[in-house]
Amino acid sequence: MHIESATQEQLIEWEKELSAHYKKICQHGLNLDITRGKPSAEQLNLSDKLDGILSSDYRTADGTDTRNYGGLVGLNCARELGAEMLQVPVEEVIAGGNSSLTLMYYAVLNGYLFGFAGNTAWRELKAPKFLCPVPGYDRHFTICEQLGIEMINIPMGANGPDMDTVEKLVQEDSDIIGIWCVPKFSNPTGTTYSKETVGRIAQLGLVASPGFRIFWDNAYSVHDFGHPINLTNIRTATLENDTADCVLQFASTSKVTHAGSGVAFVSASQANLNSLKAQMQAMTIGPEKVNQLRHSRFFTEYTSLNEHMRKHASILRPKFKCVLEHLHNALTDAAMGTWEKPEGGYFVSFNTLPGCAKAVVKLAADAGVKLTPAGATFPYGEDPEDNNIRIAPSFPPLEELDTAMSVFVLCVKLASLRKKLDMA
Ligand SMILES: Cc1ncc(COP(=O)(O)O)c(C=O)c1O
Repeated sequence: MHIESATQEQLIEWEKELSAHYKKICQHGLNLDITRGKPSAEQLNLSDKLDGILSSDYRTADGTDTRNYGGLVGLNCARELGAEMLQVPVEEVIAGGNSSLTLMYYAVLNGYLFGFAGNTAWRELKAPKFLCPVPGYDRHFTICEQLGIEMINIPMGANGPDMDTVEKLVQEDSDIIGIWCVPKFSNPTGTTYSKETVGRIAQLGLVASPGFRIFWDNAYSVHDFGHPINLTNIRTATLENDTADCVLQFASTSKVTHAGSGVAFVSASQANLNSLKAQMQAMTIGPEKVNQLRHSRFFTEYTSLNEHMRKHASILRPKFKCVLEHLHNALTDAAMGTWEKPEGGYFVSFNTLPGCAKAVVKLAADAGVKLTPAGATFPYGEDPEDNNIRIAPSFPPLEELDTAMSVFVLCVKLASLRKKLDMA
């Protein structure tokens, strides 16, 4: 039955039936969680050869003793891994600690406190602002919020952010000093930016204020489920436009090896790297190099990056299939929401009917299924349409995910019907 073509009586009857079913489910005492995009234990197991891989041989090929202090930009062999993930020259990569989010935080802080490459520090501007394609990654927004950087929502489309709006705003307001981009398998929509979008982003530096920076968080650069999808190289595109100083790229092995103990990378022009190095030099003598060496050996002596990612894909594919089948089977005919069908990454972005997301999350929580809070995918936690929910299928075993999704679609139906019947 379609929610828009059903009669009032049919809707009332439908709601009653589903409410009865929901009440029974609430008594099952479920305790399921599809909130954060974490790799499952099965995925983590794929990298367990990291343990012991050094066999007490802590030296790199060039003789560096990784146990000792030093090497601010990380080991060359680790930087090579970052260069492979981001498709950039190794000289433009810093290999850091375990988290790209930390490097992003440092980079925003650098722009805020000191300014990049000799440009005005953002804190000296009247009202520094970042453009935030939405729905997006909540932790990006938290960084801006903590530093008091105002955030402006930019709608995401099938090809990436709405570039007409981005260009207009950047041109009009010189206090706009940054944009967050997750260009491949975007969190949460799964979108990969088109060639045209990347080309237009690369040209922003021609019209933006000199301190403007694109935060190119390529967290899912190698996380394809099947045939690899090509993302246009932002570095090449900016070099063609003489805007290379506008981009900072990030990646990590968090969803490649062990999520909490991987290696993170930042890549940028030498001018930007010099700014970052000056800041890092005050903070640290150097990153954790023993783990960098482990990662380098893992991907040269044990497996290749591509081969390894294909193993992840074979674990993730059935989970995404499960989510998409539940959504399709339960909600397509009823017309109770829309969703993306990602070809990689970690999320399925689901849009309820307007004004239903919070209600769905609450219903699911009461039935024992934890979802990412409604609004989390928007700056300040405010989804203006209250309709976006991020589903993260990777962590739970398939059987649990299947149960969680049957509860999820039931909650979507109930919330939609109650909204329609004005019961919410
Ligand atoms: C878009 C995006 N960037 C960064 C991260 C975190 O990366 P890291 O573990 O390297 O800090 C995530 C994790 O979910 C993410 O989705």
